[in-house]
Amino acid sequence: MKDKLEQIRAAALGVLEKATDMDALEEARIKFLGKKGEMTAAMKEMRNLAAEDRPKIGALANEVRSSIEKHIEERKAELTAKMQNARLKAEVVDVTMPGNAPKLGKLHPLTKVMNTLKETFIGMGFEIAEGPEVEKDYYNFEALNIPKNHPARDTQDTFYIDENTVLRTQTSPIQVRVMEKQKPPIRVIAPGRVYRSDTVDATHSPVFHQIEGLVVDKGVTMADLKGTLEVFLKELYGEKTRVRFRPHHFPFTEPSAEADVSCFACGGKGCPVCKGEGWIEVLGCGMVHPRVLANCGIDPEVYSGFAFGIGLERIAMGKYDINDLRLFFENDLRFLDQF
Ligand code: DAH
Repeated sequence: MKDKLEQIRAAALGVLEKATDMDALEEARIKFLGKKGEMTAAMKEMRNLAAEDRPKIGALANEVRSSIEKHIEERKAELTAKMQNARLKAEVVDVTMPGNAPKLGKLHPLTKVMNTLKETFIGMGFEIAEGPEVEKDYYNFEALNIPKNHPARDTQDTFYIDENTVLRTQTSPIQVRVMEKQKPPIRVIAPGRVYRSDTVDATHSPVFHQIEGLVVDKGVTMADLKGTLEVFLKELYGEKTRVRFRPHHFPFTEPSAEADVSCFACGGKGCPVCKGEGWIEVLGCGMVHPRVLANCGIDPEVYSGFAFGIGLERIAMGKYDINDLRLFFENDLRFLDQF
């Protein structure tokens, strides 16, 4: 009996030694320690032993059983560690490898310039106003003191939806819409898309963008206009920029002016960018015409105001040294990626 038990122990240890995975261990456990296993069979033979031998053999049997159990546990721990190591090796990550950065989108250069302008004016206490792109003739022309026979109204310049409706040719109609709804003090900028019946070339597009500005209050003067626009243009083109105002004509402002900045490429000496002039025209402006104020129900005897209009594409072309307007609208990523 004793030999039998030792045999089982030796056989079990041999099998366990060779087991290379958890299934093999479980198989061995069943074979040696299971209900129908070899140990159980051996124990059944105990009853054939002489009574005085039983305690000794019983003790040995227990010892064999627990030593097999112990070996199973040990092999289990060994195999688990081995499997874990193999897995770690297989799944090793080289943290020094360059990652796959997701490609982020970018803002369109026009959006960037638009955001800069908005921020500057919001910083000066302006609010943002909007208006429709499909606009009444009344707002786009009539209320702005643009007479019926004005060349801007010609179908060669303006897209007409019907007799009384146009695609707005400027952001100036938003001035009227704001003044109709809001009483002074008014301080707004109104960015947006505008349309003109132009053929596409390097400096023309039937769709482009403007930013309109409007300030109306008691005692607003041309000095306020000049001061505001100077702050804005210096912020946009740099502290050293000089600004000059030239007399001009717009039907909805009186007096009217165009503003030039000293050339941002040559500083004013004259170069190809400014066509040798030293100055670059950047916007139109003026004191809101009394008739326009009156058209909107604001008493021109009490209030005065100034307005300005900026072409966004022209500003962006100057700022980023872009020589063809079409690039903004072609959506070529080789171009857009550069900003
Ligand atoms: N609306 C004018 C244009 O499209 C630009 C402009 C000029 C707007 C003078 C103004 C202004 O508000 O005061 O050419």
